[in-house]
Amino acid sequence: MISFLLIFVLIIIYFFFKWSFFYSSLPKGKLLPPGSMGWPYFGETLQLYSQNPNSFFSTRQQRYGDIFKTHILGCPCVMISRPEAAKMVLVTHDHLFKPTYPPSKENMIGHNALFFHQGPYHSHLRKMVQSSFLPCALKESVPRIENLVIDMLPKFVDKTINTLCEMKKYAFDVAIISAFGINTEVEIEQIKQLYRILEKGYNSMPLNVPGTPFYKAMKARKLLNEKLSKLIGKERKSKKAAGTGGLLEVLLGSDQAERSDSKLTDSQIADNIIGVIFAAHDTTASVMTWVLMYLHDNIDVLEAVAREQEGIRCRISEENRNLTWDDTRLMPLTSRVFQETLRSASILSFTFREAVEDVEFEGHFIPKGWKVLPLFRSIHHSAALFPHPSKFDPSRFEVAPRPNSYMPFGKGVHSCPGSELAKLETLILLHHLTTTYRWKVISSHSGTHYGPFPVPKGGLPIVLSPICRT
Ligand code: HEM
Repeated sequence: MISFLLIFVLIIIYFFFKWSFFYSSLPKGKLLPPGSMGWPYFGETLQLYSQNPNSFFSTRQQRYGDIFKTHILGCPCVMISRPEAAKMVLVTHDHLFKPTYPPSKENMIGHNALFFHQGPYHSHLRKMVQSSFLPCALKESVPRIENLVIDMLPKFVDKTINTLCEMKKYAFDVAIISAFGINTEVEIEQIKQLYRILEKGYNSMPLNVPGTPFYKAMKARKLLNEKLSKLIGKERKSKKAAGTGGLLEVLLGSDQAERSDSKLTDSQIADNIIGVIFAAHDTTASVMTWVLMYLHDNIDVLEAVAREQEGIRCRISEENRNLTWDDTRLMPLTSRVFQETLRSASILSFTFREAVEDVEFEGHFIPKGWKVLPLFRSIHHSAALFPHPSKFDPSRFEVAPRPNSYMPFGKGVHSCPGSELAKLETLILLHHLTTTYRWKVISSHSGTHYGPFPVPKGGLPIVLSPICRT
């Protein structure tokens, strides 16, 4: 016990001296942003994790302003909640700030995934990923996504379902369609199972010891890689009709590139497929869960959305056809509900960048290696930018938001390539849901759980019942 205490005290002394050395070595006349760095090493980690993260950000913002420093999980950080400053980090001065993730997360997704890169490799990959999620590519997937919804909803009738769990399954199936198209070789069930294990480990302590969720997830990641490598090998040999194989086909298309360094290796393809599925499903599931909650709590908005969707339903049934991409472009109110949900719930509360060199920024000095966090949620909840920010009010999007004030999908070269897909699957869901069913929230929970994306506590249990048509 005494030796344990001694080690603890020595660690504190070590970090105290390291700390003092850091401050005394700052270039003369350079001012760090205002804020508190908390305790040596621990910084303000305890304060962040022991309270609602929003109050952590807002109390500091009130005390120090829109740019402040803090120290979280062993890293000195600068947090930013001014739109123009966020734009500088993500867009105009993006070469000075690289994306950064904890090494455990990078290991789990795979080092070759586009999230972790800057420069030519990132832009080469990004062009391919983006082309797979452009409207012309998404159009083709409307009937398949619609079929998922038509199969899924009747199964929920008169049962208590956990909205988040069901939305995760739906969003996962949509992600699989976008990744593999109509490829029948894919062992979907096994991939799903491996993903579930991966997900648990991704959000757990990075302890690679047998029995821990992290260890199991790393094993699942290895198996996923083996499955995808086999599939990639088969696909390279087979000659299939073009335009049916989703993102995998697009990435394999790099084989046709003239420059040999543009051709992607098997592990580059596998890491990006795994990464895109990862990025696509929890985020979208979270947003769809919030949409259902907001519509339930705002009956006038729900009825207005239902009227808009009913108009489309009547037209479709007169023309004896299914929903098309063009129909989804004629849903202005439902689209505003999606926009307002993204603002209000702010699924990615912030993102991480790291200063690649010492940076002078709006009169503040940011040393090389410091993390810089644009706080999307604080910007989306600023009363100056969005009056009555806690009110769910889709009509605020009848006029375009102030430039750089609305960033649910980020901004700049790393902004989300999947935004249109997320919107499409939400609109298709809402079309069938609001024209055929109503739902009641059965929940004793209130508040938000961060896991890591914000979701209603308890996952929003609901009971769905069909509308009586007379
Ligand atoms: C409502 C759902 C979604 C939200 C709120 C969301 C949000 C975001 C945000 C904020 C970023 C930027 C992160 C940063 O700058 O560090 C991002 C990046 C990304 N998202 Fe999404 N996303 C969603 C759905 C999707 C979907 C459906 C896909 C599938 C294609 C996807 C794929 C990606 C990828 C691949 C990146 C990394 C892009 C890059 O680094 O170049 N996301 N997302």
